[in-house]
Amino acid sequence: MSKLAIHGGKPVRTKPFPRWPVFTEADAQAVARVVLSGVWCCTTGKLAGQFEEAFAKFQGARYGVALTNGTTALRLALMAAGIEEGDEVIVPPYTFLATATAVVECNAVPVFVDIDPDTYNLDPRLIEAAITPRTCAIIPVHFAGLACDMGRILAIAKKHKLKIIEDACHGWGGRWKNKGLGCIGEMGVFSFQASKNLTGGEGGLITTDNEELYAICQSLHNGGRLKLRPDGTLPGRLAAYEKGAGNWYAHFLLGGNHRMTEMQAALLLSQLKRLKKQTDRREANAHYLDRELAAIPGIRPMRQDAFATRVSRHLYLFRYDAARFGGQPRQKFLAALKAEGVTASPGYPMPLYRQPLFLEKNFAPYTGWKHSHPDLDYSRVSCPVCEKACAGEAVWLSQATLLGTRHDMDDIVAAVAKVQQYAAEI
Ligand SMILES: Cc1ncc(COP(=O)(O)O)c(C=O)c1O
Repeated sequence: MSKLAIHGGKPVRTKPFPRWPVFTEADAQAVARVVLSGVWCCTTGKLAGQFEEAFAKFQGARYGVALTNGTTALRLALMAAGIEEGDEVIVPPYTFLATATAVVECNAVPVFVDIDPDTYNLDPRLIEAAITPRTCAIIPVHFAGLACDMGRILAIAKKHKLKIIEDACHGWGGRWKNKGLGCIGEMGVFSFQASKNLTGGEGGLITTDNEELYAICQSLHNGGRLKLRPDGTLPGRLAAYEKGAGNWYAHFLLGGNHRMTEMQAALLLSQLKRLKKQTDRREANAHYLDRELAAIPGIRPMRQDAFATRVSRHLYLFRYDAARFGGQPRQKFLAALKAEGVTASPGYPMPLYRQPLFLEKNFAPYTGWKHSHPDLDYSRVSCPVCEKACAGEAVWLSQATLLGTRHDMDDIVAAVAKVQQYAAEI
């Protein structure tokens, strides 16, 4: 009989890996206190404001604006950056939908640039070729919490006068040259959705060091109202609105209600206390896996450049080479691995530009796209590295798996090594 569990052999492990979310009695009490106080909204409560301050400080930004989710955070950041109809914004295709749809929602055009084969982050070598006179911003996504090559991206942005809005939705605690992710470009955007390493069930936040951008984001998330400084003034071009601002029925910008609730903020403040310790553990386990998995033929962990000084590890990624597994496709490898007790994901099944939404440019009537860009055809976009990652190369382990023990990591390595050894049978 085969030794592989998929054919009836003994699995490497049967014990489950750590589950997500992690929560404590203190988290429950923090939320219960808010419920019992009856103060559930940040317009009267203080917790969302406290979370803005605490998270901005944790990440290393001057300001934070707490929001409903990361999708909204991206859109408001682009609005605040002044992205306009017809502008082009460079985005990677290996990311969640919102990185690109936030651009469309601003009536601007997402331009997909391929990823680096060793990091799955935006490849800075390809950016300049995609720049046109209409390009006005870049959204680097620090995928899985691994810093993009911001040195090169900043240099390109400076040369072409482009804005940088970092999609740091996986970046809590991650660092580039010891600078917090999301604190390098004009603005950074975070998500606290349920799968995320820091979660309030849902939630988002914009970081910035620029007081004027902060005030605009603050306004956009709160119905276009303007919050005066303690001395009654407003920064930058908002100064024109000083008279009359500060009133609940005085609306100046095209804002909406995108405020985080006090319950979300309470949960996030409580969880933030253990994020550093959890990140330390994820990093230590990820480094161990990097070393051990690299020794298995056909498995290549991602490259961690020296500038990525801290990786938040929203996922643990590695590359699967079918040729070194007897030509077996990734799905067979994953099924065999699962039978051994290790669940991994193939990740995104297609590049973002292959979604029907983009192929059909199904953006009208919600945006001004109905009659614009008739020649733009996303079916002509080709990002071969991303396509290869999606088609059969990428493998994701969840961040919760990385909260396991060293013994758990040994089981992962043993399971992958076993499947490799008997690859011909899967
Ligand atoms: C890279 C990236 N950007 C943006 C988002 C959007 O965040 P949210 O789900 O909080 O709207 C996500 C969430 O999955 C993400 O992974």
